[in-house]
Amino acid sequence: MGEAKSVTIRPARNVLGSLRVPGDKSISHRYAMLAALASGRSRFENFSPGADCASTLDCMRALGCAVERDEQSGVTIDGLGSDLPVPSGPLDCGNSGSTMRMLAGIVASQPFGSVMIGDASLSRRPMKRIIDPLTKMGAEIHSAEGGCAPLLIKGTKLHGIEYQVPVASAQVKTCLLFAGLLAEGQTTVQEPSRTRDHGELALRAFGAKVDRQRSALTIQGGQSLHPLEGYIPGDISSAAFFLCAAAIFPESNVVIDGVLLNPTRSALLDVLAAMGSRISMVRVEEQHGELVGTVTLVAGAGKELTVEGALTALLIDELPVLAAIAPFAGGLEVRDAGELRVKESDRLTAVTQNLRAMGAQVEQTADGWSIPGRQILHGAEIESFGDHRIAMAFAIAALRAEGETRIHGAECVGISYPSFFEDLERLVER
Ligand code: S3P
Repeated sequence: MGEAKSVTIRPARNVLGSLRVPGDKSISHRYAMLAALASGRSRFENFSPGADCASTLDCMRALGCAVERDEQSGVTIDGLGSDLPVPSGPLDCGNSGSTMRMLAGIVASQPFGSVMIGDASLSRRPMKRIIDPLTKMGAEIHSAEGGCAPLLIKGTKLHGIEYQVPVASAQVKTCLLFAGLLAEGQTTVQEPSRTRDHGELALRAFGAKVDRQRSALTIQGGQSLHPLEGYIPGDISSAAFFLCAAAIFPESNVVIDGVLLNPTRSALLDVLAAMGSRISMVRVEEQHGELVGTVTLVAGAGKELTVEGALTALLIDELPVLAAIAPFAGGLEVRDAGELRVKESDRLTAVTQNLRAMGAQVEQTADGWSIPGRQILHGAEIESFGDHRIAMAFAIAALRAEGETRIHGAECVGISYPSFFEDLERLVER
């Protein structure tokens, strides 16, 4: 990600134009992990260029896979089948919770010990949510205090379980489906509310059978995977920054080509429409079970928005940017978002602190915010807290503020979107 960097954002007059965003981070992680377990060579175009997915690829290399990246965004992975060799060293997951939680399900099923490490932020994040069910499946896992990384996972032949996941988390669900694929018998995972379904779609794309009965997913252990070739759709959580920017400029018009439109990820489009934006989708098609298309958004965000319950879980990665535009829009109430406290930063506090630095009125609760609309904000010194989504969310708020904004620790956008600031400048009119 490089040296610490501050970026200055000047106010904009409008947001206009068309763009493609980098490949989806959630799908890139999953395809890379399953490609390692397939027999043969997989190849992906538009693989996420972010540091998080690079961490996953490095872990797969440490687990003995040949992984090649080309100049563009192509990745080739030579799968080894379900029996992986002993890793060459610790599995360094960097800043990536997805890497640590989902890969834990794979290494827990191997007959050797693995050490999983991460950076300071990842080493504060809760891992008990995967330790508990993987232990029930037969693995022995040691962690640092409080169930945090580093993790020492003593793998074994796992056995299938029936498990009700206590928190809505696609990472936990996917971890258990991957573990279930490699376990003996059948594994059923029940989620408290619907979360992104890329884990189950990816397993099917690689040839595994996964059944869904309402909110329960069942996988039979011992299925083998075939390799896959495909184009990874643009990340809608990255497109979200430009869509939210367009929502708050009256003359805007933004077109995002080839973006992921999976219904478990596209709730943002529904809420922006409910706030008053005009949204259309064309050229919608399915690729390996994932919907992809072109989205056009024309300004409008005058209506107040409330996000709670199951909708909160579906919008979890988009809440920082929705909060960052809320003062320029009709306002926002968010409830049931306690999970935001255990992301790459405490996103509830990071958003509140930065909005207040810009002069906004905002009330923070235990699990959300109340942010009035129609406020006037000024440019400010913004702290990213090393969190990519906080840096990008406030780059968007800065476009509508009076005066310049400086974003400190802006290099963290490299976690998911290294060319974010360049792409933003292409859409902004001053
Ligand atoms: C992700 C799931 C979400 C999300 C993260 C990516 C995934 O995390 O916030 O950015 O790819 O499964 P949780 O599983 O912790 O909700």
